[in-house]
Amino acid sequence: MRREGINEGKSNQATGHETRKAKTPTMLEFSPGLAGVPAAKSKVSFVDGRTGLLEYRGIRINELAEHSSFLETTYLLLYDRLPAQAELDRFSADVTHHRRIKYRITDLIKCLPEHGHPMDALQAAVAALGMFYPARNVLDPEVQYWSIVRLIAKVPTIVAAYYRLRRGDDQIQPRDDLDHASNFLYMLTEKVPNPVVAKALDTCLILHAEHTMNASTFSGMVTASTLADPYTVVSSAIGTLKGPLHGGAAQEVAEMLKAIGSVDNVRPYLEQKLAAKEKIMGFGHRIYKVKDPRATILQGIARQLFARLARHGRSPLYELAEEVERVGEELMQAKGIHANVDFYSGVLYKTMGLDTDFFPCIFAMARVTGWLAHWLEQIQD
Ligand code: COA
Repeated sequence: MRREGINEGKSNQATGHETRKAKTPTMLEFSPGLAGVPAAKSKVSFVDGRTGLLEYRGIRINELAEHSSFLETTYLLLYDRLPAQAELDRFSADVTHHRRIKYRITDLIKCLPEHGHPMDALQAAVAALGMFYPARNVLDPEVQYWSIVRLIAKVPTIVAAYYRLRRGDDQIQPRDDLDHASNFLYMLTEKVPNPVVAKALDTCLILHAEHTMNASTFSGMVTASTLADPYTVVSSAIGTLKGPLHGGAAQEVAEMLKAIGSVDNVRPYLEQKLAAKEKIMGFGHRIYKVKDPRATILQGIARQLFARLARHGRSPLYELAEEVERVGEELMQAKGIHANVDFYSGVLYKTMGLDTDFFPCIFAMARVTGWLAHWLEQIQD
């Protein structure tokens, strides 16, 4: 992707929790959950919830979803500019060559209970990586670069290893000839994926890579403020992302669609939930008061993907999801509640055949970029 004038220098006054209601308190006022308290000034991304604008380093998310790749977007977020082709080639090659994990990390994963949550396995393995690759001098640019490369490269391998090993299957080694998303899907199934499916996953990773300040980024930044190494920073952010109020919504969407079961049951199910004052998963957002721009992009991708994979011209899961969105919008119109990014990502991951409890791990594979971009910005300041 080529673009002039990439960073327009906008920054978000990032708060401890994404919120729109709270006012900024004075120093001595107590603000529950740090709502409205500016915690950092950052140029990594910019969001305007009233107009539905999300930019990474001054570039609209729509442009990146259409023209970029996850690794190029990662470079942009980390280094505040799009890479020249040679820089992207080098960065991609470095990431590709560091995908393998040490057999002792695999052994560690093998020892974990198969009924444990995959995010706990990921957190434990990432923390252990820090013991194999000590990164004590976090101010050294070499240490920063190679820690970033290792984390971006190895997180998908760890996720795929636990996915296979907990089923009693062998781990599948990464393949250097495959791109980031294709290689991840290959490590799950030992099959080279359909390029349309791999592209859909790559776009999901771009769309989840960063979103200004949020609980997991804040958590990582608190850890980074002690000059802890980046493996510890990322493992603490993974722990925070695990919670159902943060990284768990896509999983909840898939489970909700399963519970609804059929198009006929959509309206009664949603009406009953709303009457009981329960939240509909995959709807609503703290910041966006119009449709989440990422949800619009993912809906387009889901439509294309389902059309491609449809059997006998039909794709029941997509038809069900569209009906849930249509009825949900109708019922919650008055409150300005729309589908969010997790609505269609849940649908997409389900179509890719992933186990639902792994959905937060896909979020982590993407957001490791945002955590590291904030880490770099913080320690370079
Ligand atoms: N289902 C039903 N009602 C919802 C809703 C949802 N998903 N999201 C918000 N509402 C309701 C609120 O309860 C509130 O109702 P009230 O005025 O009668 O009290 C009203 O809509 C306004 O809510 P708002 O202030 O805009 O949202 P919020 O900041 O309180 O909550 C979320 C934001 C994200 C926490 C919330 O929408 C939610 O829990 N969504 C479901 C989980 C999810 O998909 N999370 C992923 C977010 S990317």
